Amino acid sequence: MYDLTVVIPTFNERANVAPMVDLLTAALQGRAWEAVFVDDDSPDGTADAVRAIAETRANIRVLQRTGRRGLAGACIEGILSSSARLCAVIDADLQHDETRLPLMMDLFIQVDLDLVVASRNLEGGSSEGGFSGLRQWGSAQATSLTRRALGISVTDPMSGFFMVRRSSFRQVAPQLQVAGFKILADMLAVAGPRWQVREIPYGFRQRQFGESKMDRTVALEFLGLLIARKTGGLVSIKFVLFGFVGAVGVLVQLAVVAVAFRLMPGHFALAQAVGVTVAIANNFFLNNMLTYRDRALKGRAFLKGLASFYLVCAFGAVLNIGLADLVYRLLPVVSLASIAGALAGAAWNFVASAQFTWCAR
Ligand code: GDD
Ligand code: MN
Repeated sequence: MYDLTVVIPTFNERANVAPMVDLLTAALQGRAWEAVFVDDDSPDGTADAVRAIAETRANIRVLQRTGRRGLAGACIEGILSSSARLCAVIDADLQHDETRLPLMMDLFIQVDLDLVVASRNLEGGSSEGGFSGLRQWGSAQATSLTRRALGISVTDPMSGFFMVRRSSFRQVAPQLQVAGFKILADMLAVAGPRWQVREIPYGFRQRQFGESKMDRTVALEFLGLLIARKTGGLVSIKFVLFGFVGAVGVLVQLAVVAVAFRLMPGHFALAQAVGVTVAIANNFFLNNMLTYRDRALKGRAFLKGLASFYLVCAFGAVLNIGLADLVYRLLPVVSLASIAGALAGAAWNFVASAQFTWCAR
């Protein structure tokens, strides 16, 4: 029986696997621990690199996921695969200071805690080592926004390095957002003030091998997480991103219609049709790149997806117009009826395209 499961999410971290196992082995000497690498079918063969070590080490295993991607989801599945009393989450790229793990474990013995966060923002911690100036600034902004929006008091809610009591995690797990990068912030928001939380400082190191997966879409996903939490989980991250793309689509449609009408004066309906056609293609492209980048369609599947998205949106338009007309008959306020139609159409487009276009599982 292990006291600690170390959950290590990986995507293309092959070169970091062996050094990571060595560092954990040194740091956790004398403790009953196991490590599970949760790998999203990395093309570089990370999962096989773990298996090669697991052949001779009973406390090392891999949880390989196909057909889905995402840091938060990987951490959740890794923790839920554990039978240990405590679970830590740590990055595979050696940026997090694994020598802090025994201290984090000991804190749970001294006090009845739910969570220990390793923080870069406490006295004695730092992030200069691992971040560029720009990213440090971005991180600080995101941190203060998160703390205010979600009412979180820990100094580093964006940390990817923490240890949680498995039984406590089990309680919040069903409510967590699987899409997204910041599982700790989400966990703290869901748990609220009832959790006993401690922080310890650590110095964020430089990445040695491989590259960061943080990009602009991660920032958008994060805004989605904040909105999802502010609505009490009513809307998902994906729905927020879908809505964002929809708003962009409206602007694209307006611009295209304006240009088309100028080229074909007097043919408004035709210009509008061109605008709608372009806007739908635009939305498909953006959703494939952003909302569903974890299962982005490519090649033939891309074209099939585009066709199914047109079909879905055609039904959405019929629903949109039909409902708006109904509402208008009941209550003749143009803006109200029109918005009701648009919302119903958007909701249909979201649910139906998740099913038919991107085949959400
Ligand atoms: N399974 C899986 N699936 N793992 C992933 C995915 C994914 O889609 N994306 C990233 N990872 C893994 C990486 O392989 C790495 O082990 C870890 O998650 C962190 O990814 P990085 O790309 O190295 O992120 P970072 O260094 O920019 O930011 C990290 O550290 C910050 C400071 O603690 C993240 O943990 C941030 O959440 C954190 O704020
Ligand atoms: Mn990293």
